[in-house]
Amino acid sequence: TDGVERTVAAFERGEPVLVHDAADREGETDLIYPAGSVTAEAVARMRNDAGGLVCVALSDAVCETFDLPFAQEVIDHPVGADHDLGYDERSSFSLTVNHRDTFTGITDADRSRTITELARAATDPDGVDFAEEFRAPGHVHLLRAAPNLVADREGHTELGLVLAEAADLPPAVVVCEMLDDRSGRALSPADARAYAERNGFAYVEGADVVRQFD
Ligand code: 5RP
Ligand code: CA
Ligand code: ZN
Repeated sequence: TDGVERTVAAFERGEPVLVHDAADREGETDLIYPAGSVTAEAVARMRNDAGGLVCVALSDAVCETFDLPFAQEVIDHPVGADHDLGYDERSSFSLTVNHRDTFTGITDADRSRTITELARAATDPDGVDFAEEFRAPGHVHLLRAAPNLVADREGHTELGLVLAEAADLPPAVVVCEMLDDRSGRALSPADARAYAERNGFAYVEGADVVRQFD
């Protein structure tokens, strides 16, 4: 659809886009950036305008190369044993990391440094010693995508990475949920669309992305 083409074109230019997954899934809209184009100002926009968790989604192949597991599999505590979710079969959470050149890791400058270094690492994973460049735990959540992206799972993790693939970008995108400051709930699709329009960002439905790329 037009919406998907416009969204891919925005990604090619390094602009953020808004992606609503589905009313019968999380029912959330994430602000999504190609990881390589994130700046300190972009991190500020994510925490001020989106308000959710700032996460970097990486492809399954990149995570395999960097030996990044699903968090669920490495939590040695009873809370990790039963991973029941109401909206999907499993979460895509992996570890949290900071680039080793950051200080606390949470500032806009530190998080944008970690995020852009993750994008660079994802461009040539075989040439990267991940543990030499990043430390865990950190302040950027990593998400591990399903191997065949939206053919396997229709989360923001996979929706973002399929857009990056279509835009010919490395398999690293930043996602952050849009929350409503008044209700504390997920921002409604209508309000997310209005935010996109006010800012000149593309807004797309997950179903349209899945239809185009599955
Ligand atoms: C991390 C999350 C978000 O929902 C994010 O969109 C990634 O998860 P998913 O792929 O399940 O949509 O939980 O803050
Ligand atoms: Ca979630
Ligand atoms: Zn999500």
